[in-house]
Amino acid sequence: MAAEQNAGSLDSAFYQPADAFFPAQAGLALTYDDLTLSTLYSETLPRDTSLDTELAGGLCLHLPIISADMDTVTESRMATGMALNGGLGLIHYNMPEKQQLKEVSRVKNHVHGLIQEPITVAPDKTVGDVIELTETKRYSFSTFPVVGDDRKLVGLLSGNVLKPRYAAKQVTSALVPRDQVQTLRESQLGADPIAIADQFFTDHPGINKLLVVNDSDELCGLFTLSDIERITTEKLSQFRPARDDHFRLLCGAAVSTPRNDAGELDRERIESHVGALIERGADVVAVSTAHGHSKGVGNAVALIRAAYPDLPLIAGNVTTAAGVEYLADQGANIIKIGQGPGSICTTRLVAGVGIPQMTALYVASQAAKAKGVSLLADGGITKSGDIVKALTLVDGVICGGLLAGCPETPGQVMEISGKLYKQYRGMGSFAAMKSGSAARYGHAPKDANRKVAAEGIEALKEVSENLDQLLGQLIGGVQAGMGYLGAAKLADLRAKACYTRISPAGQKEAAPHDVVEMKASS
Ligand code: XMP
Repeated sequence: MAAEQNAGSLDSAFYQPADAFFPAQAGLALTYDDLTLSTLYSETLPRDTSLDTELAGGLCLHLPIISADMDTVTESRMATGMALNGGLGLIHYNMPEKQQLKEVSRVKNHVHGLIQEPITVAPDKTVGDVIELTETKRYSFSTFPVVGDDRKLVGLLSGNVLKPRYAAKQVTSALVPRDQVQTLRESQLGADPIAIADQFFTDHPGINKLLVVNDSDELCGLFTLSDIERITTEKLSQFRPARDDHFRLLCGAAVSTPRNDAGELDRERIESHVGALIERGADVVAVSTAHGHSKGVGNAVALIRAAYPDLPLIAGNVTTAAGVEYLADQGANIIKIGQGPGSICTTRLVAGVGIPQMTALYVASQAAKAKGVSLLADGGITKSGDIVKALTLVDGVICGGLLAGCPETPGQVMEISGKLYKQYRGMGSFAAMKSGSAARYGHAPKDANRKVAAEGIEALKEVSENLDQLLGQLIGGVQAGMGYLGAAKLADLRAKACYTRISPAGQKEAAPHDVVEMKASS
């Protein structure tokens, strides 16, 4: 017993919980590589850990990773991939508002069982026309409902007839006629359309498309067997996609804080932009700026909160307890922490401000607890170990650079000296500010052409593995960390973590050393 107590007090003298460790370091700001977590007695296997996180009422993720609202990181393809893996993507705002709305719709309309606007063909086309359409649009499917001008269902054109030998035939003479096409009435779908469709496919072997019509026999949706099977298996898997109550993927979008010609916050524009995003199904909106503890940002958050009382609202960025309190008081329920840690950021060099992440996260977490808001660690994450460290203090992380080499990001792949790269640029770089993000750094759009200091750089990232594989590695790393701390869920990680600082030699020891590396770990 005495020996056990000794061991306990010895450990606690060297490895301290957050509330002892961070105040003892006051005056020296620390980031991820400055400290390490001590292991703890564990009965938890990594594979049994849960990464579920609740960021706000009605906004739960199964993976606490969010892709950054940057124009070289998150558009619909990335946001879809993030949500399919249980996380979330924030669609950036460096594009016309209409286009951003479309991007949100693309994510929300991604396979959620019932395809509400299936691609149809007209009866007066030829099979050749449909083959051409399939090729030019690169559709991954080849069966099309045939619908007349009056939207009424005429039949189903099966992929089996999309062959050059039938090219000259009219669609009407090649289709399966209406009376032989299996359909369901919209009114039959009930509260659980997936279960109804699942049962239908079980009852009708060989049929893999189910059309839904309304009482006037107009087409209003389509189920495919493969989607339904994917959804029913996904319900059983550990890392389920992040979905809303209607089984659609979660999607977030960022909004700017534009000013009118008089230099005042453009309240109408902000309110209508957020309203339009909500109409398209956005689950969370982020007021993304470089300096969240400022009047303009606070006013923007307050006006969105007043107009949309139940909307999960992200705001930032701040690195102080007062900043967290301020944004929480204005109505934000999720606050982004990070000023200058980003891989493409130059804020600390240009403006001389910003706080290394772990210290900023600790200070912010104290205010967040008192205000009942959640926090996201934004920027500076380069490996899964950083995510584990961040999650000992906050509810989720935002990654830009770590994801920027994935094929799912916007932008072309370029080859330089035999290696493949994708562009990755700071939203405070000149080029990005010209494309729309000037307000994020407190400048008017026209300022981007005069002398203002850029706070970000334009860079390249080597093309990486695809998002599923990359997130698989990150999830594995985070679960390993939780296993070492005996943390079955993220709340346990926050409650149990003990820290110690590491010396430069300790940092060197932490990475592979004194060997010739043959295969880099990802
Ligand atoms: P990582 O390290 O993941 O950081 O690449 C992404 C985060 O960096 C922030 N960001 C910027 N910060 N100047 C800055 O000071 C910039 O130009 C810039 N662009 C993005 C942002 O918070 C993002 O999520």
